[in-house]
Amino acid sequence: MGTLTYLRNFFTDKYIASVTPTSIYGVRKVCGKIDFARAGTMIEFGPGTGVFTRYLLERIRFDARLILIERNPAFAAILREKFPDPRVTVVHDSAENVHPILDARGGLPADCILSGIPFSFLPAEVRKHILLGSHAVLRPGGKFLAYQTFYQSAAHLRVPLEERFGSIRLEYEMRNIPPLSIYEAIKENGA
Ligand SMILES: C[S@@+](CC[C@H](N)C(=O)[O-])C[C@H]1O[C@@H](n2cnc3c(N)ncnc32)[C@H](O)[C@@H]1O
Repeated sequence: MGTLTYLRNFFTDKYIASVTPTSIYGVRKVCGKIDFARAGTMIEFGPGTGVFTRYLLERIRFDARLILIERNPAFAAILREKFPDPRVTVVHDSAENVHPILDARGGLPADCILSGIPFSFLPAEVRKHILLGSHAVLRPGGKFLAYQTFYQSAAHLRVPLEERFGSIRLEYEMRNIPPLSIYEAIKENGA
């Protein structure tokens, strides 16, 4: 379940923003930044058909929780069928609602958020709302990790992320179609 599933849904939902899942190089590089021994509650924004989810489930603790928030109904249904793992909860909703979603499921605070949603496609207000909610649900020291297409204005994610989290780290993975920018932001203690 990969490129064909993406293509089928890509034409009816512009927020999918990709015609193929992230490459294994991208998945490894992004997930290399996660402290799996510490992470008890993890969130994935925009898991798609689950290329990161599968990798995460092989590495998270047996007692960890992984909450998948996916806006596209066809992808949410695929994720439910594909991952009958008791650690996984699939929520068909927008990342904008991360705070009430976690609150309702006793998932606060979260250790890590992994985001694949296309920030460049979102209106500024929605972007701001998602980053505010993400910052609010993370524990101090918790991490927000986002992967995006390489060519993008700093106004789409870097600047709003710095406004919310302070300094961030930015790396690239060229072995992906298209190449990826990887943003890493940590919630300060006392923030
Ligand atoms: C570029 S695809 C990434 C999919 C997958 N994580 C991967 O790496 O291949 C973006 C995904 O984000 C989802 N998405 C877009 N906007 C969203 C939102 N506001 N909340 C949750 N998911 C969203 C899309 O439906 C799609 O599954």
